Amino acid sequence: MRAAWPRAGAALWPAGASLRRVGVALLLGWLGGFAAAAPTAAPLQVPDTWAQRAQACTGCHGEQGRASPEGYIPRIAGKPEAYLWQQLQAFRDGRRPHEGMSRLLAPLSDEHLRSLARHFASLHIPYQAVVQRAATPQALALGQRLARQGDPARQLPACMDCHGTALMGMLPAAPGLLALPQDYLVAQLGAWRTGMRQARAPDCMAQIARQLSTEEVAAVAAWLATQTPPSLASPAPASTQALPLPCGSLQP
Ligand code: HEC
Ligand code: HEC
Repeated sequence: MRAAWPRAGAALWPAGASLRRVGVALLLGWLGGFAAAAPTAAPLQVPDTWAQRAQACTGCHGEQGRASPEGYIPRIAGKPEAYLWQQLQAFRDGRRPHEGMSRLLAPLSDEHLRSLARHFASLHIPYQAVVQRAATPQALALGQRLARQGDPARQLPACMDCHGTALMGMLPAAPGLLALPQDYLVAQLGAWRTGMRQARAPDCMAQIARQLSTEEVAAVAAWLATQTPPSLASPAPASTQALPLPCGSLQP
């Protein structure tokens, strides 16, 4: 299920509770690069920091971008900066389709996007308990096997090879996978299979997603979504070994 978005022409930001706290002056200021004047004679004194500006995002992505393992919206806190930066560019420039995210980011410069990526990447905050879903033990076992071992007989690499041994991401730009919402994981793998989501070429994830059957996508998503991450999880350092497939997103 996708979150509701404001209609074109209305305020670019949704009217979430945390947004209302931000105040009209901040919203105008944020969108206008802080050039817009406050609308009343008594201007609000809002500090111009990235933490303040990022409040426009936390209405959907949760406090500090921590999101929840339920529903659809992904956690963004603590993901590698280069990963977040590439995603924000992809939404803005139409390589990753999501109407709301694209419309929201359309007016923002590279510099804005980079600062947002840096801000959320720097937030290493604890994870919530994961939600246990109904998945058969066979499906969970298959999901775990794909994540940790892949399927050498089909030259399908393990997810761990690029997403880190703990599956909490790997520098410079592979994101953590544990405790993301199951529906979100299924949707992303599906989008790669159909070409709706495209990463920088060579797009290793498109290749991997196309090797997975529908049953395998469901199994790996169910297993990843129900693993509790280590409490202070950060992306692993960049691999010193060759990766099983070349990925454009991991190149500088
Ligand atoms: C109205 C809700 C909403 C708001 C506001 C919002 N997002 Fe999102 N965001 C989403 C949804 C839904 C997705 C998943 C889109 C998809 O299906 O690919 C997403 C995806 C993302 C992703 C990709 C995450 C990943 O792991 O690949 C990033 C990064 C992101 N948003 C950053 C931001 C930033 C930064 C802001 C503030 C400028 C923001 N979002 C505001 C709903 C929102
Ligand atoms: C060869 C390296 C490699 C392997 C192996 C790999 N991935 Fe990835 N994965 C990446 C890279 C690089 C990205 C970032 C792509 C981008 O820039 O959009 C990514 C992104 C993802 C995302 C998007 C996460 C988000 O927050 O939107 C998902 C989901 C994912 N991978 C799942 C998997 C699964 C499941 C496996 C194992 C079956 C796997 N990956 C194996 C390199 C890899």
